Amino acid sequence: MKIDGTPYRAVWVDEGDRWSVRVIDQTKLPWSLDFLRLTTLRQATHAITSMQIRGAPLIGVVAAYGLALALRDDPGTDAMERAAAQLAGTRPTAINLRWALDRMLTRLRNTAAGQRAAAAYAEAAAIAEEDVEQNAAIGRHGLPLIQQAAEAKAPSGPQASQPVNILTHCNAGWLATVDWGTALAPIYMAHNAGVPVHVWVDETRPRNQGAALTAWELGKHGVPHTVISDNAGGHLMQHGQVDLAIVGADRVTRTGDAANKIGTYLKALAAHDNKVPFWVAVPSSTIDWTVSDGVREIPIEERDATEVTTVTGRGTDGRPATVRVTPTSSPAANPAFDVTPARLLTGLITERGRCEATAEGLQAMFRDRA
Ligand code: MRU
Repeated sequence: MKIDGTPYRAVWVDEGDRWSVRVIDQTKLPWSLDFLRLTTLRQATHAITSMQIRGAPLIGVVAAYGLALALRDDPGTDAMERAAAQLAGTRPTAINLRWALDRMLTRLRNTAAGQRAAAAYAEAAAIAEEDVEQNAAIGRHGLPLIQQAAEAKAPSGPQASQPVNILTHCNAGWLATVDWGTALAPIYMAHNAGVPVHVWVDETRPRNQGAALTAWELGKHGVPHTVISDNAGGHLMQHGQVDLAIVGADRVTRTGDAANKIGTYLKALAAHDNKVPFWVAVPSSTIDWTVSDGVREIPIEERDATEVTTVTGRGTDGRPATVRVTPTSSPAANPAFDVTPARLLTGLITERGRCEATAEGLQAMFRDRA
């Protein structure tokens, strides 16, 4: 997608040296657009754990490139397995990480040590390209939902068309993937096609991925949007101001339960109560075919309590500042994801099309995988 008219991706290999890995430092957005150069396994691991890069599909792709960086230093089998284990341990909930590393190891275990680094770069690049294609396909399959909502709202007289109001949570845009995003891909496609859209952007405490990242990337692409507090969604739904919700996911079970950023479940409950369609947009790399009960089986990352006790913003001097918002003596808990049971979802938008969030719906869509 574009930043001020220039196309970018969230990760790429440096065009000059052709081996270092470039990413946008997402901890600096929206205040400054800084680019990082990853040259070692350690830097790649740090980028994922510190959330300089985040979002399920992007974590998988950066981990794949992190393994390629490790193999430049030591292509031996033991070092490769250790590097993969180190990368796999960075974030527990997003299944794309394990999926990407499994795919890399399947290719690399059968490759001679001398050719491993080159093979790893090629496989990581293939994963990245597929991510872009899959997200574009998710966009195409999600677009009719927005077009239908627009037609339902179209005035019969000469009044201007009302925009379709879409609520989203966290950041499931191009910054969370290689390009397009998952939940935001249909929105970008609708906007590009001239369908009037307006996005309610949940701020997404504690790390504010909505307020900082989703608002930034929608704004840079010119998509109308409004940031709301995490608690506002139910009220807006009660008052008919949300036509549909689209969110991403970090892991979807074979039965259609969806783990996503903390707070998603509450939005799905409110949507269910108000009969607002609630869609989850995922590439197939986010589906964990080994898990049936998302609430009990998906590991939920517990992040540092300082993400809850503090807020980072821009100070009055224009520079980023972090301030404490809780009493110093109050403990804080920080579960980073929750699981929305499939029964609360209207359906899933995948690269192969839309399906019910059920075992049968997913199996029919992915017979070759399930
Ligand atoms: O902790 P994060 O920022 O990596 O969490 C990201 C999300 O929850 C996204 O909504 C999810 O990864 C979907 S990605 C397209």
